[in-house]
Amino acid sequence: MTISRRTFLASTAAATIAPTFGMAKTQSLRAEPVIQQILAGEYRDFGPTPALGFNGGTPGPLLKVRQGEELAVTFQNRSGADSSVHWHGIRIYNAMDGVPGLTQEPVADGEDFEYRFVAPDAGTFWYHSHSRSWEQVAKGLYGPLIVEEATPPDVDADIIVMIDDWRLGEDAAFIDDFGAMFQFAHGGRLGNYAKAMPSQSTVRQGDRVRLRLINTSNARIFPIDITGIDGKLVALDGMPLTQVEDFGKIMMAPAQRADIIADVVEDIQFSFQTREGDYGLGTILAEGMNPSKRSSAISPLPPSGIMPPSGEANRREVLRMQGGAMGGRHAGDDIWSFNGISDLQDEPWLKIDRGTSVLMTLVNDTSFPHGIHLHGQHFFEIEADGSVGPLRDTSLVDPGESRDIYCVFDNPGKWLLHCHMLGHAATGMRTWVEVI
Ligand code: C2O
Ligand code: CU
Repeated sequence: MTISRRTFLASTAAATIAPTFGMAKTQSLRAEPVIQQILAGEYRDFGPTPALGFNGGTPGPLLKVRQGEELAVTFQNRSGADSSVHWHGIRIYNAMDGVPGLTQEPVADGEDFEYRFVAPDAGTFWYHSHSRSWEQVAKGLYGPLIVEEATPPDVDADIIVMIDDWRLGEDAAFIDDFGAMFQFAHGGRLGNYAKAMPSQSTVRQGDRVRLRLINTSNARIFPIDITGIDGKLVALDGMPLTQVEDFGKIMMAPAQRADIIADVVEDIQFSFQTREGDYGLGTILAEGMNPSKRSSAISPLPPSGIMPPSGEANRREVLRMQGGAMGGRHAGDDIWSFNGISDLQDEPWLKIDRGTSVLMTLVNDTSFPHGIHLHGQHFFEIEADGSVGPLRDTSLVDPGESRDIYCVFDNPGKWLLHCHMLGHAATGMRTWVEVI
């Protein structure tokens, strides 16, 4: 394993030497209580929701950097409780990963913390609280983090579409059952209201658009349907696909992202199928006409540079998800476990020499799907036929199924590996690896 560009940039950030380019101005992210109009459309009259947000609203502000540039953020915690910020999907310098108890002390209410790191990969990422995330993320402590390609693809509009669900009462306030064990033992705390939050509400017919879908919900898997566009899937979890792909329903586990580049045919409508039928998530209206519609083919984004597997992995490991309602017995001391152990132990599950390739089989021995997220590095999903699938940071594994993932652990530090159904993570489905 050679020293990658990422490693170089990360160590630049680690030393306090100012890089000669892209030195960021420090921005601030203030976590605080907000009053947000979450309910829309026919539910709007129920009123606004007391929530948590950044800089006065939820979702928090768009943070945007060029690939290879440094992002400097002063996190001001005024949320009323301990908190921290995790930069989901960024192959980050470990000390900036935002995991209390593993990479930093929790940031107490009223305190600040300086995050400063280089973003090595271009793509669609997001940031969110990593403290009591099953409550803080559910209440709104998250936002989009976009890392721009050196030469971004030629589009008329670059639109972020965060998709979330909320569990609200008739007064539009959150139903105060955060942490309800019954929900955690099942599919998690699912909302009773869902919507897409596109960063712009209109486009023109004939525009070529990039849609950056982000599932920010704490437990819901969205099978997203999109109508009104003709285009291709170009990236998953921030990482470019080697070939652009046709898509139908896009299955999105919590924390997963999908980038689409497409031409607008008519109003863009987002929806998902529920047991009660089609649930509309929102619309981007097509107004007017683009007189100079593009005819070029949609081509792949510039590659990430992460090498696909070649030959046998150095190590094979099995990560067995266990527990939950209707699950079998397991040796863990909480609702869920990995390999019979609930939650973080003093010692990491794996100690891995930097540069080691690991073929890891994620086995779901439970009655619920889980979206397993690895911090600090991306991995390739291996398809059932053995072929190499997409690079991801979160892999959805259905009950009774298993999936191999291949990862070269080349980012030193202590990295969390957990279910991104946040209530599952809170009740045992977490572990960590150390790359040395
Ligand atoms: Cu997006 Cu450990 O989280
Ligand atoms: Cu889970």
